[in-house]
Amino acid sequence: APPSLVDGFGRRFRYLRLSVTEVCNFRCAYCLPDGYRGKADGFLELDEIARLVRGFAALGVTKVRLSGGEPSVRADLDDIIAAAAATPGVMKVALTTNGWRLDRRVRGWRDAGLSHLNVSIDSLDPAAFARLTGHDRLEDILRGVDTALGLGFGAVKLNAVLLRDTVDSAFDQFADWLRHRPATVRFIELMRTLDNGPWFDAQHVRAEVLERWLRERGWTARPRRADDGPAIEYAHPDYAGRFGVIAPYGAGFCDGCNRLRVTARGKLRLCLFGEGGVDLRDLLTDSVAPERLEQRILDALPTKQRGHELMLGRSGDLRRMADVGG
Ligand code: GTP
Ligand code: 5AD
Ligand code: SF4
Repeated sequence: APPSLVDGFGRRFRYLRLSVTEVCNFRCAYCLPDGYRGKADGFLELDEIARLVRGFAALGVTKVRLSGGEPSVRADLDDIIAAAAATPGVMKVALTTNGWRLDRRVRGWRDAGLSHLNVSIDSLDPAAFARLTGHDRLEDILRGVDTALGLGFGAVKLNAVLLRDTVDSAFDQFADWLRHRPATVRFIELMRTLDNGPWFDAQHVRAEVLERWLRERGWTARPRRADDGPAIEYAHPDYAGRFGVIAPYGAGFCDGCNRLRVTARGKLRLCLFGEGGVDLRDLLTDSVAPERLEQRILDALPTKQRGHELMLGRSGDLRRMADVGG
């Protein structure tokens, strides 16, 4: 049998999260309050991405999620999607986006081979949305989501970070939105990063608040499938859509870890909250045998830790999500 990606705790990895840029055109208060300030070049090129995805697919990866920063700031995003989709063994190509120009571009992404789409929308209240992201564009983005829902994706999901400021109205607003839409709205418990400490202290709300709200209204949890992300999904007979809860501070969260990450500069990250990472970039050229890439990935896996230390107030070396791709 071909080698497969299993770590020292018996967790199997078929899901690669690949960041394609650190640049973002939004300035979400908990992530990039001052906008993106780093170096805006030097990210993996299309041919490097293609080789990287081939290497992971040869090791059994079947799902590739493109993330960032904001992936759609890359002019060659359609080509990146197409390259991932054309890789033998890759069955799902997913994208996490802030929805900028979604309405205009989503058809092209679908035609290039995108199968799954996640859109970050922290609030359905236009003023709160503008305050949180720095862009008064909620209506455009929601129109893009409705366009996407008509295109037959495997799944369309919204991501909303749970925040003290918006939590009182958010559940009812998103439930209304879900009533007739076959989409999933996932609430993400805010995670502490090295950069968002004061914000975290003021805004962090435990995921149990949503879990309780759902149970009281007759929503029931569904079993998680092998290549699902970290969300627990809830269904309700009166609603076309689902809710999801991503609770990184919950007990056992990391036991179900099924994904590996590669940063936009070609470093393998074994955990979102890790240390450093293993550079793969020197192996992403035509002059290097692909087996060397596969071997370096296999050699790194035993160093994957059992889990993060968020509950101890630690964030590893994670300055902000945009550096690793969430
Ligand atoms: P699906 O594949 O659709 O289930 O998506 P996903 O939830 O894995 O991906 P998405 O990019 O939409 O991420 C949603 C949120 O989950 C983001 O805030 C991520 O940072 C967070 N997240 C995803 N994977 C992990 C993880 O392994 N650990 C932690 N702590 N958070 C994660
Ligand atoms: N905690 C939780 N979610 C975060 N995101 C970005 N930073 C954080 C954080 N500190 C979310 C974005 C987006 C997803 C990819 O990650 O809102 O929905
Ligand atoms: Fe996996 Fe690390 Fe996320 Fe835990 S925090 S689920 S170990 S990537």
